[in-house]
Amino acid sequence: MANQAAYNVAVVGATGAVGQKIIEILERKPFPIGEIKLLSSKRSAGTKLSFDGREVTVEEATPESFKGIDIALFSAGGSVSKKLAPEAVKHGAVVIDNTSAFRMDEGTPLVVPEVNCKDLKLQKGIIANPNCSTIQMVAALKPIKDKFGLSRVIVSTYQAVSGAGNEAVDELKNQTRDFLEGKELKAEILPAGSDKKHYPIAFNALPQIDLFQDNGYTFEEMKMINETKKILHAPDLHVSATCVRLPFVSSHAESVYVEVDQAGLSVEDLWNVLKDADGVILEDNPKEQVYPTPLSAMNKDEVFVGRVRKDPDHDKGFHLWIVSDNLVKGAALNSVQIAVALIDNDYLSN
Ligand SMILES: NC(=O)c1ccc[n+]([C@@H]2O[C@H](COP(=O)([O-])OP(=O)(O)OC[C@H]3O[C@@H](n4cnc5c(N)ncnc54)[C@H](OP(=O)(O)O)[C@@H]3O)[C@@H](O)[C@H]2O)c1
Repeated sequence: MANQAAYNVAVVGATGAVGQKIIEILERKPFPIGEIKLLSSKRSAGTKLSFDGREVTVEEATPESFKGIDIALFSAGGSVSKKLAPEAVKHGAVVIDNTSAFRMDEGTPLVVPEVNCKDLKLQKGIIANPNCSTIQMVAALKPIKDKFGLSRVIVSTYQAVSGAGNEAVDELKNQTRDFLEGKELKAEILPAGSDKKHYPIAFNALPQIDLFQDNGYTFEEMKMINETKKILHAPDLHVSATCVRLPFVSSHAESVYVEVDQAGLSVEDLWNVLKDADGVILEDNPKEQVYPTPLSAMNKDEVFVGRVRKDPDHDKGFHLWIVSDNLVKGAALNSVQIAVALIDNDYLSN
């Protein structure tokens, strides 16, 4: 598929939290769109959604849905991607997948365009969009790594409930109302829909995102560890993560400790690199209490960095506070940016 006048696009999971954001971002016309197909499960088939001022009826996603589609943006869960992404590729579409289904597969590019756009050249039909907490972290760390080298990353996250989908947002709202009315809290989704136990998120903090692995880390933590190494092409980078869910709707915040290779650096040296980084906005002025928060980053495209500090006891250690909207740069925007990069660089053919 060479550069063409307009591209036919399918959004799989169009009624979900990420799918809705993808639609909003496609309406900004990042590339010319011909036909648009909005796909979901049988449950939402028949729902009317608006795209660019016209009404589009949501259809059930099936293997035949991808006939004539050039670009398919998937955000309907890993099992749907595993089943339908290969079907989309068979019909000639390029798949950009928001789930964890293919991220660590060798030969599947895992891409944040500002960081490793060139990996798109290797695509064989499926490109994986990284985990939301990983995207914002690597966007800020790549320029630091390029300039000063990077040997260690320790991250603790403060993650929004929208990261677990629309049902988790409803759960937070219902529990908040019930808590304020003195009622018992019903927990059915968080910390992980498919796990045995559920805990209330309202007025709480849950140190579990996704399922526990045999090594005691959660899958979300292992995603941050493994995906960071893959995207940065740094298999020897030391990365460790603790992922925590907090009771706000959108944008993930992260406290990130890094050790750089170069000695003798100052906070200003890191500021200078971050100021010029693509897609990153430095918001860091402690004297004026300037720093990003989940609310200030909500609905914005960029990754915001503040609270840059040097470790008092370690010359090569620095702390950063990184915040970005998990549904925007963490999911929908990054996927659409991948589509734009494929088109602009003529990487669409597979
Ligand atoms: N939320 C985030 O911040 C974020 C960030 C990065 C990646 N992701 C990933 O993106 C995926 C979706 O997340 P979300 O937060 O948007 O979830 P969500 O709000 O629960 O939405 C799920 C979407 O998938 C559709 N779906 C479910 N089962 C389906 C099936 N069998 N066939 C076709 N469509 C089906 C749903 O359609 P119905 O309306 O018919 O149920 C809905 O449109 C997940 O894999 C998630 O890990 C999420």
